[in-house]
Amino acid sequence: MVERDSVVTGYASYAPFRDKAAYAHTVEHSVYVASGHRAAGMGRMLMGALMDYARGRGIHTMIGVLDADNEASRAFHRRLGFEESAVLREVGRKFDRWLDIVFVAHHFS
Ligand SMILES: CC(C)(COP(=O)(O)OP(=O)(O)OC[C@H]1O[C@@H](n2cnc3c(N)ncnc32)[C@H](O)[C@@H]1OP(=O)(O)O)[C@@H](O)C(=O)NCCC(=O)NCCS
Repeated sequence: MVERDSVVTGYASYAPFRDKAAYAHTVEHSVYVASGHRAAGMGRMLMGALMDYARGRGIHTMIGVLDADNEASRAFHRRLGFEESAVLREVGRKFDRWLDIVFVAHHFS
């Protein structure tokens, strides 16, 4: 988490991907940078720290579930080496409309 003047300006976190034992080495992450602080390297810094933390704890795969229309997030994850898989249609719903999602994944060797 990044805090400026007691205001949170960015965070990255992860949680288990699924409960079943087969997924014990996979996590799903979130990353968010407040709008006035973007394009200055904070997202890369937060994800770099989170990825180091995950790798150090034996995580093999990190997954992000992105709004398929969120081009900024898709470009950001591609720059960090995440690979995209298929777009799934109408999985989410927000502001009275269906959202398509895309899964992005990064594997540690
Ligand atoms: C996606 C997000 C986290 C990026 O954070 P950021 O601090 O602006 O990103 P950075 O400045 O660290 O950029 C890292 C890299 O991604 C690229 N990138 C970031 N935003 C981009 C954009 N809108 N278009 C193209 N590339 C972009 C940068 O060019 C940079 O590449 P480089 O380091 O190789 O030069 C931020 O836009 C955000 O919080 N968006 C809203 C929430 C969200 O969509 N979260 C993801 C869902 S899990």
